[in-house]
Amino acid sequence: MSIIPHGGKLVNRIKLSSVADLSLNYVELDNMELSDLELIANGAYSPLEGFMGKADYYSVLHNMRLNNGIPWSIPITLAVDKWKAAEIEAGERINLVHNDMIYGMLEVEEKFKPDKHMEADLIFRTTDLNHPGVRKLFEREDFYISGPITLIKKPEKITFTSFYLDPIETRKKFDELGWKTIVGFQTRNPVHRAHEYIQKSALEIVDGLFLNPLVGETKADDIPSEIRMKSYQILIENYYPKNRVFLSVFPAAMRYAGPREAIFHAIVRKNFGCTHFIVGRDHAGVGNYYGTYDSQKIFSYFDEDELEIKPLFFEHSFYCKKCENMASEKTCPHDSEHHVILSGTKVREMLKNGEHPPKEFSRPEVVETLIEGLNEAYILH
Ligand code: ADX
Repeated sequence: MSIIPHGGKLVNRIKLSSVADLSLNYVELDNMELSDLELIANGAYSPLEGFMGKADYYSVLHNMRLNNGIPWSIPITLAVDKWKAAEIEAGERINLVHNDMIYGMLEVEEKFKPDKHMEADLIFRTTDLNHPGVRKLFEREDFYISGPITLIKKPEKITFTSFYLDPIETRKKFDELGWKTIVGFQTRNPVHRAHEYIQKSALEIVDGLFLNPLVGETKADDIPSEIRMKSYQILIENYYPKNRVFLSVFPAAMRYAGPREAIFHAIVRKNFGCTHFIVGRDHAGVGNYYGTYDSQKIFSYFDEDELEIKPLFFEHSFYCKKCENMASEKTCPHDSEHHVILSGTKVREMLKNGEHPPKEFSRPEVVETLIEGLNEAYILH
C-alpha cells in the first residue's frame, strides 16, 4: 500500500479522448504554465485541480496553506494580460494553448490582479530583480485567471521519453519493486559526489531511492537537462545497486524559491509515492538569497504529521583529503584546508571553463559524459 497522496486522493484531470472546441476563446501558456498544467492533471500537484484562485493564492502567500488549511507553499497560477482578462468572464470555458496547439481547457472561476511585490517578498524573500524567480514573476502578465483544468493532450517529449512517468505509474512501480519506504531526491544540477553521498546515506535507512531530476524550465546558465540525464544514467550504471534506485523526471519549472520550494518539492514527491525526501544544503536556492539551512528550518513550520512525508536533512558535505572520503562537519574532525567543497555552481563553472572537475568532485565517467554533452551542445549551437 503506497503512501496517501497530499490531501487524500490522487487528482486525475487527464481526458485525452476529449476533442477541442475550436470556437472557445483561448489563453497562451508559457513553458512553466504548460508543465504546471500537466502536473496538475496527472496528480503530481494533488490536491490542486486547477490554477489557483484568489483565496488560495493569498492563503498560500500568508499561511503556506491552501484556503482549506492543507499545506501548500508555492502559488500555481495562470497569468494573462489586461486585454485577455477583460475579454474572459467567470463561468466561461477556454482553451489552453501553447505554440498553436491546444493542450487543455480551463473552466474560468475568477480573474484577479495579484500583488506581485507581496508575492515576491513572501515566496522568494526578496523583491530583487536579479533573483531569477522574482524576475520571472515580474515579467509575467499582470492578471491571474483561475479554475479547474482538463488536459486533453500531453506535452510532447523529445528526449529520454521513457523517463516521464505520472504519479500513478511511479506508485505502481514502487509497489512492484516491493519498496515500502522510498526517499525522493530533487536535483537540477549535474550530479556530484555530495549528491551521491547523501543519496547513499539515505539508502542505508530506506528501501529505495527515487532519483527525480527537475527537467522543466531552468535559468540559462544551468546545465541542459538532456546532458544531466545522461550523467545520472552513467552514475547509476557504474556506482549504484540497480534494484534500489529508480530514475524518472520531474517536468516542472525551477522557481529558485529556496525554503518555500523545498516544501513544494517534498509534497510533490509524496504524490509520486515517496515516504521520505532529501533536503541538503541551500535546497532550491540561488546566489546568496537564502541561508544554508533555511530550506530545512522551514519544515518546522508544520506539525510532523501534517506533511506526511519525512524530510531527511543533510549537512553541507564535502570530500576530506585526510579522511579520504566524503564527510560533513558531523563526521569529520579535520580542518577545512583538507576539504574539497562541492556545489553544483562550482561544477558548472569548472565545466564551462573547460576544466575537468577532479575525482573528489565528480566521478570520472560522469565528468566525461558532461564534457561530451557540453561540447556537442556547443558545436550544435
Ligand atoms: S536544487 O536546486 O535542486 O536543490 P542541487 O541539484 O544542487 O540543487 O541539489 C540537489 C539536492 O542536493 C538538494 O537537496 C541540495 O540541498 C543537496 N545538496 C547539493 N549539494 C550539497 C552538498 N554539498 N552537501 C549537502 N547537500 C547538498
